[in-house]
Amino acid sequence: MARAQPGRRIAILASGRGSNALSLIEACRTGRIEGEVVLLASNRPAAPALDLARAAGISTLAEDSRGRADRRAWDLAFLERVAASQPDLIVLAGFMRRLHADAVAPWYGRMINIHPSLLPAYPGLDTHRRVLAAGDHEHGASVHFVSAELDAGPVFAQCHIKIDNHDTADSLAQRLLPHEHRLLIASVAHLMRGDIHLDGRSVIFRGQPLTTPLSID
Ligand code: GRF
Repeated sequence: MARAQPGRRIAILASGRGSNALSLIEACRTGRIEGEVVLLASNRPAAPALDLARAAGISTLAEDSRGRADRRAWDLAFLERVAASQPDLIVLAGFMRRLHADAVAPWYGRMINIHPSLLPAYPGLDTHRRVLAAGDHEHGASVHFVSAELDAGPVFAQCHIKIDNHDTADSLAQRLLPHEHRLLIASVAHLMRGDIHLDGRSVIFRGQPLTTPLSID
């Protein structure tokens, strides 16, 4: 396979279904993202995301993280194996493991995560149920640079949906998903074009500090 152009190699980390991963793979192949997915890595060997990647001809890495006593050592070894594919960007797309601070630090500014809430609201799990319980009228998803704190790195893009009276956690998750896919594709496309980078905790977008996240709706 031809080598991806320098600066445009993408590794995806996923633990489950893999719909965001697949949408990124397709967007690269159709030219909506000027980049190439060079690896899909998972901490769950049975993750459907791995099968989707294999079917798409993408290299995969599967390492079971369950039952490992030394979290830090596992995370460092896992990311070392990911690094062997020489990614310029690591995308966490449904990667359901909190990586140790020492493992993410070398990737600060080059590792992003998609989270199903309008951060800083609702970091962590179960966001759709929590947003309904709070009586919010709006929901969405965020893409942020990964830092040591859970779902708290600099956010640079978000999508929004209205919450209906009859929404359930499942209906919200289902309605949000296609918006998430578009958000992640647009975010990665910006990064691959060099539109966005980090300066400390500040996001720089086309040479200017970004004061509010980009709206990708
Ligand atoms: C998405 O909702 C994503 O925001 C969250 O986990 C879910 C993953 O879905 N982090 P998929 O595996 O990409 O289909």
